[in-house]
Amino acid sequence: MIRPAELIQRKRDGEELPPDELAELVLGYSRGEVPDYQMAAFCMAVYFRGLSRAETFALTDAMIRSGETIDLRAALGRKVVDKHSTGGVGDKTSLAVGPIVAACGVPLGKMSGRGLGHTGGTLDKLESIPGYRTELTLDEYVAQVRDVGVAIIGQTGDLVPADKLLYGLRDVTATVDELSLIAASIMSKKLAAGAQAIVLDVKVGDGAFMKTLDDARRLAETMIALGESAGREVVCLLTDMDQPLGAAVGNALEVREALATVRGAGPADFTELVLDACAKLLALSDLGIDETEGRRRAEAAVVDGSAEAAWRRWIEAQGGTADESALPAAPLVREVPAPRAGHVVSLSAVGVGLAAVHLGAGRRTKDDVIDHAVGIVVRAKRGDRVEEGQVLAAIHARTEEQAADAIAEVLAAYELGAEARPAGPVLLEVVR
Ligand code: URA
Repeated sequence: MIRPAELIQRKRDGEELPPDELAELVLGYSRGEVPDYQMAAFCMAVYFRGLSRAETFALTDAMIRSGETIDLRAALGRKVVDKHSTGGVGDKTSLAVGPIVAACGVPLGKMSGRGLGHTGGTLDKLESIPGYRTELTLDEYVAQVRDVGVAIIGQTGDLVPADKLLYGLRDVTATVDELSLIAASIMSKKLAAGAQAIVLDVKVGDGAFMKTLDDARRLAETMIALGESAGREVVCLLTDMDQPLGAAVGNALEVREALATVRGAGPADFTELVLDACAKLLALSDLGIDETEGRRRAEAAVVDGSAEAAWRRWIEAQGGTADESALPAAPLVREVPAPRAGHVVSLSAVGVGLAAVHLGAGRRTKDDVIDHAVGIVVRAKRGDRVEEGQVLAAIHARTEEQAADAIAEVLAAYELGAEARPAGPVLLEVVR
């Protein structure tokens, strides 16, 4: 029997831990035998010391073994695809990708997480839809992927319970942004939920956990290795997170924007990333097409309304109200005017993300309850020219006091300059 305090000390002192001892710690934690405070200390030791490749593989494997696993190929008799992001601000990509890919005839099954730090989580966004059930039984999950073509669920007591626990703990102990912990968290969910081909969106920039392209590449390579060792195909998109993605930041606001994008009326940068991800997923699927044809089919599904129909089927199958009028709306909307004319030189993603958390869109402690209605809609982005008094952003708030604080925070996130700077692409690099 391992002694957690001893393992914490050995990791703190830089030792490489044997896979069986690491596994015992993680499995003991998920059974409730290792307390939160010891696991938090262990995560902090990992934060400073990192994990070797062998330790990262052992951690991922133990997290998967904490629950059940699904083989979707065996259950459906065909290839299922999945998509995941390392987390960003305004990143509602999966919400739009799922129904578009399903409308193209490719099943997508996905297990998501909640918001971490200043980044939003797909599950929190989905829970802003009245009635939407994030916890399906494994049988319900498999049946929905087969019959509806798309299911997005949360970590449950059955699938990767260790990630559900660790995710919440890391969020409030400043131990999210460690490469091995992120890789194990994401890949344990992807491997347990059973899809064969996975597109990973690795965010890079001030609003991402990976601040540099080099770190993002290392994370991508680790996740690809974890996927390949389990016989899965993995493609990583390294994408810009120096400014929020799209316009909406905040749960129900992001669901609205994802639906608008599925209907062909989304913001340009977000639409571009969604179509890129769809093209890659369709090229990895069993349709036998390349990325160019995948892109063409994804665009066609948006234009002919089949993607919106798939959205409705998916949300309703999971118990939700597909009509956007059912989404919660904040009582106050206040504008952020530009203090002077100029060009948007930068728009800090972390600044906007934190302003949204302070409005109530994210958690500050493990048990915080999210306000799904509040958030921010940015109207001016990097490269845009604005005139004095022009609206930079809209704040959706619960109280005047919160709105005033958010106005100041969002204003501080904008840098206006005299020189126009190009907006730059969202997709920075592809790693295979
Ligand atoms: N997304 C996850 O699922 N896990 C992490 O640790 C970070 C982002």
